[in-house]
Amino acid sequence: MKHILSSLLFALAALIATAQPYLRHDNLDEVISAMTLQEKAGLLVGGGKEFRIKGVPAGRTRAIERLGIPATYLADGPAGVRVNHPCTGFPTGTLLASSWDVSLVEEIAAAIGNETHEYGVDLLLAPGMNIHRNPLCGRNFEYFSEDPLLTGLLGAAYVRGVQSQGVGATVKHFAANNQETSRTFTDVLVGERALREIYLKGFEIAVRQAAPWAVMASYNQLNGDYTQQKKSLLTGILREEWGFKGIVMTDWGKKKGTVKAVFAGNDLMEPGYDEEIERIVSAVNNGSLDIADVDRNVRRMLEYIVKTPSFERYTSSRKPDLAAHATLSRRAAAESMILLKNDGGLLPLSPGQRISFVNLSGKDFVAGGTGSGGIGKGGIVRPETALSKAGFVLDQEADVALALICRSAGEEKDRQLPDDFYLTSSERKGLDSLQFLGKKIVMILNTCGVVETASWKDIPDAILIPWAPGKEGANALADVLSGKVNPSGRLPMTLPVDYFDDPSSANFPYDAPPRMEKVEYQEGIYVGYRHFVTSGKKVSFPFGYGLSYTSFAYSKPKVKVLSGAIEARITVKNTGSVAGREVVQLYVGAPSGGLEKPVRELKAFAKTRLLAPGEKETLVLRLSPYDLASYNEQSSAWETADGKYRFLFSASVEEIRATASARLKKPQSWPVKRRCAPITELKEIRL
Ligand code: BGC
Repeated sequence: MKHILSSLLFALAALIATAQPYLRHDNLDEVISAMTLQEKAGLLVGGGKEFRIKGVPAGRTRAIERLGIPATYLADGPAGVRVNHPCTGFPTGTLLASSWDVSLVEEIAAAIGNETHEYGVDLLLAPGMNIHRNPLCGRNFEYFSEDPLLTGLLGAAYVRGVQSQGVGATVKHFAANNQETSRTFTDVLVGERALREIYLKGFEIAVRQAAPWAVMASYNQLNGDYTQQKKSLLTGILREEWGFKGIVMTDWGKKKGTVKAVFAGNDLMEPGYDEEIERIVSAVNNGSLDIADVDRNVRRMLEYIVKTPSFERYTSSRKPDLAAHATLSRRAAAESMILLKNDGGLLPLSPGQRISFVNLSGKDFVAGGTGSGGIGKGGIVRPETALSKAGFVLDQEADVALALICRSAGEEKDRQLPDDFYLTSSERKGLDSLQFLGKKIVMILNTCGVVETASWKDIPDAILIPWAPGKEGANALADVLSGKVNPSGRLPMTLPVDYFDDPSSANFPYDAPPRMEKVEYQEGIYVGYRHFVTSGKKVSFPFGYGLSYTSFAYSKPKVKVLSGAIEARITVKNTGSVAGREVVQLYVGAPSGGLEKPVRELKAFAKTRLLAPGEKETLVLRLSPYDLASYNEQSSAWETADGKYRFLFSASVEEIRATASARLKKPQSWPVKRRCAPITELKEIRL
């Protein structure tokens, strides 16, 4: 009997010793202890581009079946998830940004998140949050704006929307990836202040406000190191200062510094190559990489994995509500379009009006850009079809001409000046001949980026920018032209008079060099309108500009400095004859005495609901003193000066409609060496 008992105990002990933990939410450390070095390294390296549901692969993480660790799946955005199933082609980032509507972006992103979830994807590789440093960046259409606050608040809204559906968002490309030329190696040389205030600020806001599951480090180098391998960026700033808790992955390349990347806090090499696993394994074996660094990254990968639908064994319906998403996409695109000019109230056109549709570029309507941020072929509504459906009669002899300019753009290539930023000679001739024929002209800029407008903007009666508005974009265009929707878009960037007025043009590959080893951001913080308003240089259309089919009056504003927060209020009234929405932009001019600053900077904005004629709405805009701070490179601290701040309630950076002022009684400083408090806590700091 004794003998049988001891044999049983022995068998039980052996079983316990060999029993493998199976991944749960609460046993991550146990699972890590059970992993071999090879398995750990494998988890830090993506599984290549194969995808379990065929087509449009971006990447995946590797499964370790014996430990219950599933593979997870990664797909692009940002203008909708990209898999080989019917997906909605949503408006591109720049059009979404033109809405200046945080709730709308969140709603669109929730629909994108829903498609991501229903098609079995765990992590969406969006939003794209790089700054429009220069009008020619080939991927500007994927990104929001030249302004970091607009970028940050909309990026945060996008992340919240996607993640409300139980899948993750990935903010990208971190950081200073503002051109496509030589993007995989060029070294971006940028001062600490401009880096933090312009190029990192949007990411900071999104990370602090919305806690994205992932951050994608960019391809480029930043001040001498690849961002993917830069510890001060990926661990120092991102995690220690901003409190980021998710995973960092590389952009899709094959870089040599895998070990440096692991050490820097980059948790996932994508798309992933076996040699990267071998590098990690041998570095641990030869002592050049500490196993503790590997374990830390592995833990973060497991924390990500247990949140995913793949871990929950979610079986997707593969049937998102595409009809509802098309309707939403159409509404968002229409509302976000920017009316730049409308002489004599030419728009909206009358129902049933005869119009001639003239495609000056002779190219297909551009619904989205190309490359990973594209929206796939098929299902794109043609403008001729949309216009006819909206009741317009297309007739080449008509008195009103819709003149279309089309420009695509995309990954790996920046745009160029001739025949791209500038109109082609045949486009210009076409426009001139419409003028010669005495037509009323509505110019439509269906472009993936800014084109020159100053030399021809006097010719057309109306100018409308739909950018690249998604697959339903032509229907949305018809809604705006017919007045079914009153456009309420505002420019998220400046339209300069000439390309060379933009200071970044001194250091941008506009002449398509074959290689560019480095790029110096010599303009510092003077990016976009910050340069134009400070230097007084004339622009063609200013940042924040956009007309409506109605008009608005602004009340006298009130600004109150509460304990640690600033509250601004203004009432906006629709004084015109149709319903519409207004965007109130709050620019702040700082007192002298502190750091040198642009004459004014966007610090908050809000959009009214749809106001009927005569209707009013009071908007409350809140900001914290930290939002007013600039970065002092000498003291490595964010600082505000004391004194009188001017609060400018504006319809664009140049159209100040009402002003107020408020005093900050003492200067404040937030050193970055210690961990910065999250924004919610910062609000409590007394002035
Ligand atoms: C792009 C990323 C994209 C990735 C996967 C890269 O080339 O830069 O934005 O998410 O490919 O498709």
